[in-house]
Amino acid sequence: MNYPQWIIEGVGGPGIIGIIAVSHVFISQFAVGGGLFLPITEYLARRNNDPEMLEYLHTHTRFFTILTSVVGAMFGVGIWFAIGLVHPDATAFLIRNFVLAWTIEWVWFFLEILSLIVYYYGWKTLSPRTHMMVGWVYMFTAIMTLVTINGILCFMLTPGDWIQNQSFWSAMFNPTYWPSLLMRFLVCLALAGLYGLITAARMSTANGLRTRMLQYSARWFIPTFVFMLFAMGWYMLMLPEETRNMLFSGMSGFARGNFAILTRISMLTILFTATMGFMIFFGAYANPEEFGGGKIAFLMISALFVTGAGEWTREVLRKPYVIHSVMYSNALLAADAKDMETAERPFLPRIEWRKDGESDGQAMFRTQCRSCHTLDGYRPLREFLKGRDEKSILSLLKIMRPGEKNPYRNIMPPTVGTDTELAMLARYLTSEVSSAK
Ligand code: HEC
Repeated sequence: MNYPQWIIEGVGGPGIIGIIAVSHVFISQFAVGGGLFLPITEYLARRNNDPEMLEYLHTHTRFFTILTSVVGAMFGVGIWFAIGLVHPDATAFLIRNFVLAWTIEWVWFFLEILSLIVYYYGWKTLSPRTHMMVGWVYMFTAIMTLVTINGILCFMLTPGDWIQNQSFWSAMFNPTYWPSLLMRFLVCLALAGLYGLITAARMSTANGLRTRMLQYSARWFIPTFVFMLFAMGWYMLMLPEETRNMLFSGMSGFARGNFAILTRISMLTILFTATMGFMIFFGAYANPEEFGGGKIAFLMISALFVTGAGEWTREVLRKPYVIHSVMYSNALLAADAKDMETAERPFLPRIEWRKDGESDGQAMFRTQCRSCHTLDGYRPLREFLKGRDEKSILSLLKIMRPGEKNPYRNIMPPTVGTDTELAMLARYLTSEVSSAK
């Protein structure tokens, strides 16, 4: 609420962040997986004196370098643009607390891309020993980017002891740090296998190497299928209790929204994962000759879907916070909300930045509701409030005040402000609802 804010109808601001972030995570987790896949496979090929496999790896590295360094990095910058514009308060908060971690991460990332480029261009010119060394540096730095960024991602859902001690290390190694690292690491291995399958499948079928590489890549999925359930269980154990309940109780009475979808998404994820497992083992592994185009496309889409569902679930679980127990999704600090429990504290003077010509009601709407709702697109308020008159909207806004009696307290931030301010918001919302097409 202290900075200009980018308002997006339709998919909404969170939707934009989501689309960019999921693409970025998908590519960068593949980059980490590739950081293991390339040097380990090179090591095996050299040990078995297998020039064919080395040649394949060279081609694979090219595809890989372009995808991670160009596309992945572009999406990474895109995330900064999107979060800075859509949610400047949370971005500023994270930068203030994690500037050291991000600096470290950027150094790892720089070294990762540098070693990858040397690895690719040095394929024919460096001695095998040096080339292998560059490969190991690449592997190490790629893993370290994940090790660093994982702390920040987990902090937003489980800030843990940081809330009491504000220590940087408590923030980094928060309750979900280790299970999340394991989960993401397993995903990286699976994605490395997936991209291995893609490049291998494109080789000519007359080639015995194709079969070998398909089977080899399929094996990269094994740790994921074996340990993933354990990692997910561990992760869930480390979640705050009310968050875990949300996950299991599922519906919570708001059947039109996320919580029903959460259950549906989990079921779809399980279905897609099982199908992927089936296709990898009975397709790529047992029947490599018939493995190609359509199946690859299906695997890619499934993997992207599962990545999206995973990240999205993590976001939903965090509701109504952007940083759990610290900052609500609409930039209201939990401490301020506590301070504003009574209806005597005005909210409007706290808004540091006002849009030109904006009415007070509109400003209330922009700062308290807009971060999660659109008018007609994602979580559409025109539809949610249809059929309510001004009086009924105002009483809803009053029910949403801070406190135990607020039935929405686990999904929406409490409304704050004086009765007059809430009345302005109610009037504004009523005018929007009645002007619906
Ligand atoms: C943290 C994000 C968030 C903020 C901020 C937020 N909401 Fe919501 N709202 C939700 C979610 C999540 C749901 C329920 C799921 C759904 O239907 O998509 C919801 C549902 C609703 C509903 C439907 C309730 C029902 O009983 O079905 C209304 C009405 C609503 N919000 C109004 C508001 C108003 C008004 C504001 C601003 C004062 C606001 N919301 C702020 C996330 C938010």
